[in-house]
Order: sequence, then structure tokens, then C-alpha cells
Amino acid sequence: MRVLGIETTCDETAAAVVRLLPQGGGEILSSEILSQAARHAPYGGVVPEIASRAHVAALDRLVARALGRAGVSLADLDAVAAAAGPGLVGGVIVGLTAGKALALAAGKPFVAVNHLEAHALTPRLTDNLAFPYLLLLASGGHTQIVLVRGVGDHRRLGGTLDDAMGEAFDKTAKMLGLPYPGGPEIERRAAQGDPARFKLPRPMLGRPDANFSFSGLKTAVRQAIDALGTPSERDIADLCAGLQAAIVDVVVDRMRTALRQFRDGEGVPHAIVAAGGVAANGALRRALGRFAAEAGLGFVTPPPALCTDNGAMIAWAGIERRRLGAVDPLDFPPRARWPLDAGAPPLNGRA
Ligand code: KG4
Ligand code: ZN
Repeated sequence: MRVLGIETTCDETAAAVVRLLPQGGGEILSSEILSQAARHAPYGGVVPEIASRAHVAALDRLVARALGRAGVSLADLDAVAAAAGPGLVGGVIVGLTAGKALALAAGKPFVAVNHLEAHALTPRLTDNLAFPYLLLLASGGHTQIVLVRGVGDHRRLGGTLDDAMGEAFDKTAKMLGLPYPGGPEIERRAAQGDPARFKLPRPMLGRPDANFSFSGLKTAVRQAIDALGTPSERDIADLCAGLQAAIVDVVVDRMRTALRQFRDGEGVPHAIVAAGGVAANGALRRALGRFAAEAGLGFVTPPPALCTDNGAMIAWAGIERRRLGAVDPLDFPPRARWPLDAGAPPLNGRA
């Protein structure tokens, strides 16, 4: 089975072709990604209007290149998949409409993919991981701990009460005058810094639920910056190291709490998994790897390029749904919100 995947929910325009391997798992035949980060950088965050226009300008070319690099034509595909949300709806419409049009023109089934589920299923593309697993999904738009039981079968164990984890990185970077996106830059600076110099809080540590909150941490960083006046390079490195260490501590504590809930309710997961853009963070990966080892579990995390937004994860989620027989109608709506676990109560309006 070969599927074309299209991703336009945020500030990456992406198209990829993925093939299902006979033994399970996938082979990425091509993966084209055009990051718009440079266009949004002057604003310190993604500007929806700019994002939509940039998707329109780039998508046709990226799809043609993805097909070309994979050595396939539309006729060789088994389905066309596009992310239908959640995300910036103007961008979602671009990729969703393109995917539907290609499917219609080629006479192939169309599959609408939940962007969050695509992140959640990526370890099955890369590592053929069996269900169930305990997933930390952390990106610029979402932060949740999810029990992944099957395709379309997810239970949210924790979420964020305010900012997403990626936003905590991005907003801190902005306060420090560092470029967008903030996560990779903070990680680079943190490598030179002293994580113990600034005493930053660990919000939610020890709470019986597995939720997150980052606003107190953001305020503490703001106060530290104000007290410094104009931070030096050393101050910036130390603040970056302090922020990263605080977030890593919180993540491990929240995952420990979620694992306890999992073990009480559902038995033993096959692995601990981290996905989403923030999972590209090396310190976070190492800490979660240690935590999983202590718990006697495997740790799986896709390579950084498959943690941040990409088309291969959309193609793979399309394969997963398609092989269960799924096909979506051509009037499938774009969704700004599309929670993975529809039964879970909203946490301060965030899925
Ligand atoms: O999954 P993604 O590419 O897009 C969304 O769906 O949001 O995630 C982007 C987010 C940004 O907030 C970015 O700062 C963060 O992931 N990020 C990182 C790192 N690389 C990307 N955060 C911390 N450390 C990193 N190395
Ligand atoms: Zn994402």
C-alpha cells in the first residue's frame, strides 16, 4: 500500500509518499517539507494569514516533488491522505482541498487525518510499535499524555491547563530576544548554561492528575529577566538551561503519574513514547529514556525530523486508517479543534 500524505495545519507545508512494509512499519519513499519559520520569525509566532498564503504558493510544487522523488504517479497510489485538523483552519483548508482534489482526479480513496493522531502513530511507522503505549505528545500547539490503544482509540490521561509545552519554549525565547521557533534555540543555549543558577518553579509537580501548567514558569522567567535588566549571553544561557531543566523535571513527574494511572487501569504499556516538535529536545529525550528504563519499559521516539510536522506522518496515519477500511467523504470539514479523546473534558478550552 502506498499513500500520499499532505500536511498544512501550521507553518510547515509538507507532502510525502509512504509505503506499508509487508512485516508492518513503513518505508518513507519521499518526504518534502518547506518550513515557513523564516517568514513568521519577525512576528515571534505563526501568523495564520501568512501561513495560508504560503501553503497555497508551495503545495503543488511539493506534491509534484514528493511523487517524483518516490518514483510514483497518482495512478500508483492506493489513497491520498491530508491533515483535516486540528490547526489553523485557513492552512488546513489548503491541504485538505488539495488532497480531496487529487483523490478525486486520480479516482483514489481520500482519507482525512487527525494531525495529533499522525504524531501519535509515528512510532509505528518508524518502529512498528505494538499498541498500547504511553505517549507524551508535545508541540507548539498541543501538550498531552495519551494512552494510545489503537487507531482512533486514544485516552487522554493529562493535558495542559494553559500554554502548550512548545509555547513555553517559544514565549521564553521571545522574552529573551531569541529567534522563533524558540525550542531549538533554547536547547542550543542551554548546552552552555547552568541549570541551577535560577531557581525556577516546577508547576504541578506531585499532583495526582497528569496535567501540565506552564504559566507560573513563564512568569518566573519574566521576573528573572526583569531583575537582570539587560541579560548577558551568560544570563541567557543560564535561563535557557534553567527553563529546560524545569520542563524536563515536570515532564518526567507527569509521565510517572500517568504511568501509575495506566498501570492501575489498563495493565502494562509496550513502551514510553515521545512525539511532537518538543520531543526533538535532546535533554527531554534522555530524561524520558532514563525514566522508561527505570520503569522497565522500552522508550521509542521518532527521529527529530519525524517529531516536528511532516507529511510522512500524515501518509502513515492514512495507511493505518486505510488498512482498516476507512475512507472519508469529499465534504469532510476542516477542523480547528479535533481532540484525540473526544470523551475527555476540555482543559481550559484546549484539547
Ligand atoms: O510539532 P511541531 O513541529 O508543530 C506543531 O504542531 O506545533 O512543533 C513545533 C514546536 C515549537 O514550539 C518548537 O519550539 C518546538 O516544537 N521544538 C522544540 C525543539 N524543536 C522544536 N522544543 C524544544 N526543544 C527542541 N529541540
Ligand atoms: Zn504537530
